[in-house]
Amino acid sequence: MVAIDWDNLGFSYIKTPFRYLAHWKNGEWSEGQMTEDNVLHISEGSTALHYGQQCFEGLKAYRCQDGSINLFRPTENAKRFQVSARRLMMPEVPEKMFLEAVEKVVKFNQDYVPPYESGATLYLRPLLIGVGDGIGVNPAPEYLFTVFCVPVGAYFKGGLKPTNFIVSDYDRAAPAGTGAVKVGGNYAASLLPGKEAKSRDYSDCIYLDPATHTKIEEVGAANFFGITKTGRFITPISPSILPSITKYSLLYLAEHRLGLEVEEGNVYLNDLNQFSEAGACGTAAVISPIGGIQTKDEFHVFYSETEVGPVTQKLYDELTGIQFGDVEAPEGWIVKVPIEA
Ligand code: PLP
Ligand code: COI
Repeated sequence: MVAIDWDNLGFSYIKTPFRYLAHWKNGEWSEGQMTEDNVLHISEGSTALHYGQQCFEGLKAYRCQDGSINLFRPTENAKRFQVSARRLMMPEVPEKMFLEAVEKVVKFNQDYVPPYESGATLYLRPLLIGVGDGIGVNPAPEYLFTVFCVPVGAYFKGGLKPTNFIVSDYDRAAPAGTGAVKVGGNYAASLLPGKEAKSRDYSDCIYLDPATHTKIEEVGAANFFGITKTGRFITPISPSILPSITKYSLLYLAEHRLGLEVEEGNVYLNDLNQFSEAGACGTAAVISPIGGIQTKDEFHVFYSETEVGPVTQKLYDELTGIQFGDVEAPEGWIVKVPIEA
């Protein structure tokens, strides 16, 4: 058994034994290999280093009560990875190759999938980077696709205890930029605002729409949702936010399992009073209740600064119940990783 304190994991790098690596050159992908080496040896002229030609994904493996291992909607990650790759002129990783890589990484590192009910999961990080000799602003001649994994606990320290967020003056993405794809540049742009927010004891910042700064876009590493006082589930619509797989799952579950009316629409900052609960959602964030939001003018508290609201709790139970195999999943949402018992 691996010596890890599963109950007290945060969201930090831990070197696990195996990762997957494939190389694209002359128009084709090499056969992926599993390797123990966690260091990439790449040209100093790699476009990933200079011009941010790279994209990544994030998904998790969940240990079920019977010891089996679930992946949650991995095909959606594979598809989004392809959209991100196309936006930055990188070769797509075929869906089949993506799924095989993810399954292999889980299988080879299965001792690192945290126990059922520890609250922890195995986070998988697929990564595609432009490499090879280059210097001009052009797509790279070669690419590396790797998938590694890290056991993780809560991304926002509170877990299901609400935490507070602050509205940022900065933008993480431009109106017609790369906000809707999962590329490193968006996250580089969020480091300074995120640091400023955390230094003031907020969990992270909330970005507004870059064109008018009047509507909530998303959190630095998660989408935003609110439950209105009339029981509607609302989440922002925008061409510059990441289309969160968790958010689309919640839209479905809120409507079909909780019987709520749902909407992807505008969430105006001056209309926060309509909400009785709010939260951040994403693979890493899961569902993290938002206690309050600091705007320029006020500190707006939603349900409570200390207690999770009832609808958020129900959504959390439904979502995590499905992920850990305790609640029946909608068709196609769960993929079992083939492991020997
Ligand atoms: N928004 C941003 C900026 C993210 O980095 C993430 C994390 O992947 C999300 C939203 C949530 O997306 P998903 O639910 O697909 O993990
Ligand atoms: C995720 O939820 O998978 C993310 O990518 C968030 C973050 C760690 C960047």
